[in-house]
Amino acid sequence: MVVAVYPGTFDPLTYGHMDIIERAAALVDKLIVGIYENPAKQPLFPLEQRVRLVEEVITGLSNVRVKAFKGLTVDFIRQVGGKVMIRGLRANSDFEREFEMALMNRKLAPDIELLCLMTSSQYQFLSSTLIKEVAKLGGCLEGMVPDNVAVALKEKFSVPIELATGKGKM
Ligand SMILES: Nc1ncnc2c1ncn2[C@@H]1O[C@H](COP(=O)(O)OP(=O)(O)OP(=O)(O)O)[C@@H](O)[C@H]1O
Ligand SMILES: [Mg+2]
Repeated sequence: MVVAVYPGTFDPLTYGHMDIIERAAALVDKLIVGIYENPAKQPLFPLEQRVRLVEEVITGLSNVRVKAFKGLTVDFIRQVGGKVMIRGLRANSDFEREFEMALMNRKLAPDIELLCLMTSSQYQFLSSTLIKEVAKLGGCLEGMVPDNVAVALKEKFSVPIELATGKGKM
């Protein structure tokens, strides 16, 4: 049984992440979305909320679970019995950073294999950082994040809900 972990900060979850989750889940027996506490990034959403937002949207994917973690990613992957780490790639800059981390992780844990999935072109421009900037300025997030995330962002930044989800424009 192949257990894989898709680690990230998910602050917050986007459709770019969801695309990777769905595609990875189709390749492995069990996928664990590992939500990294990441105090260095000073996340907008508390860890528990980041976990909940992912849990709410993966209910239809029977082999996917969500877990929060602290510390080294490779330690977390071992703890859950994982053999594979999943990451998504959008641009050259992602590749350089992933390559660096992959070589370090191989030193730390040669038993864990890295599997990188290329972004789907429609999500290439999506990052949590950009989503937060758009949300803060009141931009419509339709097609970029699930509705529960749009609502959570709206609550954070006090943006009208119809603007956040795009539903008011139908
Ligand atoms: N649109 C996307 N397409 C493919 N992979 C993605 C996409 N967005 C994020 N990822 C990948 O998901 C993983 C977790 O990413 P992370 O939580 O850092 O999200 P992020 O959007 O890069 O957020 P931030 O802007 O805070 O770095 C990383 O491997 C990242 O490259
Ligand atoms: Mg990132």
